[in-house]
Amino acid sequence: MGKLHKATARACANIALVKYWGKSDEKLRLPVNSSAAVCLDKLFTRTTVEFLEEVGEDAVEIKGGFLSEAEKRRVSQHLDRVRALTGVKKRAKVNSENSFAKASGLASSASSFAALSLAAAKAAGLNLSEKELSILARQGSGSACRSIPGGMVIWQKGKGDSSSYAYQIFYPADWKLRILLVLAENAGEKSVSSSEGMKRALTSPYFALALKEAKRNVLLIKTALSKNDWKLFGKVVEDECFRLHILAMTSSPSIVYWQAGTLNIIHRLLLLREKGIVGFFTIDAGPHVHVVCQGKDVAGLKKGLAGVEGVERIVDCKVGGKARLEKKHLF
Ligand code: PMV
Repeated sequence: MGKLHKATARACANIALVKYWGKSDEKLRLPVNSSAAVCLDKLFTRTTVEFLEEVGEDAVEIKGGFLSEAEKRRVSQHLDRVRALTGVKKRAKVNSENSFAKASGLASSASSFAALSLAAAKAAGLNLSEKELSILARQGSGSACRSIPGGMVIWQKGKGDSSSYAYQIFYPADWKLRILLVLAENAGEKSVSSSEGMKRALTSPYFALALKEAKRNVLLIKTALSKNDWKLFGKVVEDECFRLHILAMTSSPSIVYWQAGTLNIIHRLLLLREKGIVGFFTIDAGPHVHVVCQGKDVAGLKKGLAGVEGVERIVDCKVGGKARLEKKHLF
């Protein structure tokens, strides 16, 4: 067992390009299909962990936010995984801050559990490899495994716990990839959690077909990247967006994550595309639209999307880096 000390980590959120929307193992958070994602530099979580107290409970706080008892328990369960790996018995103090609002389809659980995994492992004296950290993060929240390597990533489904993790993949540098996060109004906290949504996905009559499509789309996105095929890349991204939302809308009971603004944004993007200003849309479990685009189209897209009814604001992101340790602590 290594020496205990205070540790702080920072991890970016990620937006899925090929979606994760169904688990084959609830407890281990193993996905039914491999997925792909890109990390977002402007959306991140910073978390400080220190194992301090011999007895009592973990003290978990989020700066400027509120955590329910269930959420605190989920953090404690994750700390238990780290304690089990190291033999550390002490309770921890955990402080966290997000650069964005949690639980409105902005993948805060991904950045949170990635930052928590790295900070807690370090605080407990563990030196995990990137692969081991990705596996640990996945056990806390599936999509969090993709926030460990940073950049553009594939989360390989794997055959079990030890082979289900994310790794970085190459994308053409000349794309100068950007992601415009277009926030829809009236988002609030999302109505149905992704965990619940994924359980319900199994009730969709289209589930088996959607799974087949996901497998095909992982292969297609790899082809698009290796062949520098922007059009194919965009086609897969948008097909995958609809795949998730069709599953959600046809689940029992059905889930509609979109708001009026969501559809307005899609229509505006299609119009702009006809004029040669290209941005591909994708949407997670919430109403906001992530527009994946090339650097050359950013100005045109921002101008074209400004003033669309139901749009709150636009956050212009570059591709985010890997989860990393920081010297400045939160307490
Ligand atoms: O890891 P979770 O439970 O936050 O799942 C997130 C699932 C989506 O963000 C909706 C899709 C994805 O692939 O990230």
